Amino acid sequence: MSDRSATAISCSNIAFIKYWGNRDNVCRIPATGSISMNLGSLTTHTTVTFDAALTRDHLTLNGNPSSSQALQRVSDFLALIRKRTGQFLFAQVSSENNFPMGTGIASSASAFAALSLAASTAAGLTLEEVELSRLARRGSGSACRSIPAGFVEWRAGHNDDDSYAVSIAPPDHWNLIDCVAIVSQEHKSTGSSDGHPLAESSPLQQTRVQQTPQHLEICREAILQRDFDAFAKVTELDCNLMHAVMMTSNPALLYWQPATLSIIHAVRAWRQFGLPVCYTIDAGPNVHVIGLQKDQDQITKRLADIPGVQKIICSSPGGAAHRADG
Ligand code: PMV
Repeated sequence: MSDRSATAISCSNIAFIKYWGNRDNVCRIPATGSISMNLGSLTTHTTVTFDAALTRDHLTLNGNPSSSQALQRVSDFLALIRKRTGQFLFAQVSSENNFPMGTGIASSASAFAALSLAASTAAGLTLEEVELSRLARRGSGSACRSIPAGFVEWRAGHNDDDSYAVSIAPPDHWNLIDCVAIVSQEHKSTGSSDGHPLAESSPLQQTRVQQTPQHLEICREAILQRDFDAFAKVTELDCNLMHAVMMTSNPALLYWQPATLSIIHAVRAWRQFGLPVCYTIDAGPNVHVIGLQKDQDQITKRLADIPGVQKIICSSPGGAAHRADG
């Protein structure tokens, strides 16, 4: 392999039916399927160059050398590609998020989706969407959902071959908006890779896993029918169930801050009084408030009035991971 370079762009995503817990922590085969929407305003732009002159992999994040932990994770991922191609060159990886780092918005989904496409292309592979999604899953489970466009379902499967995500509706199918209310910019104490293995220690995880197929069905139908009421109900239920599992695992994970709860109460009241909105929360304190694009100004104004809300970033449904260089 001579020096080869490729650049890719990918969106982050927000799950409506959540992924928490693996059947296989190494291959990241999830305990349940999940459904998400790509976030068009939150993207990662990554260039990978395999270079015969390098003696190890290098990683820069937003122009700065990365931590050794982040580099190790990227290197382990690149090793999968080197094994697949049988060519063992090291790479220079440069990755930039268009959203401010340290806002507490997870970037691993967009990061590993963009890395999968850029690195596989730079290594001379041409992967179909399903293969790319499977590869991205190995870097970060939720990254497999950032490969296809719009509204996406990750079919849990049972092994490396049959666990991947597919688009269930294109970005323009439903004019939803996700307004992330940022209440803390601190690095979370337990990241999701360390959190997934704890799920099984919760007495509630088994119940959650049993109920998820039903939630997937309701959420998929609600999206296809653009039925906001049904969508809001199942999205909040599934979020609460995941956080109940987190709060009851050993050790317990409590990601919410006081402002998280203030937003939950506000969103429930707004919906009761006629505004179509609902909330969902990942492994952190920030709240994703989902509504209709026509209500974006009203949602952001109301969120900005809640004490503790530091910043609000809104996204419409985003497209598929794509090449930025050809
Ligand atoms: O892909 P990971 O390992 O960062 O896990 C993501 C976990 C959640 O964000 C909490 C839920 C989800 O489905 O995205």
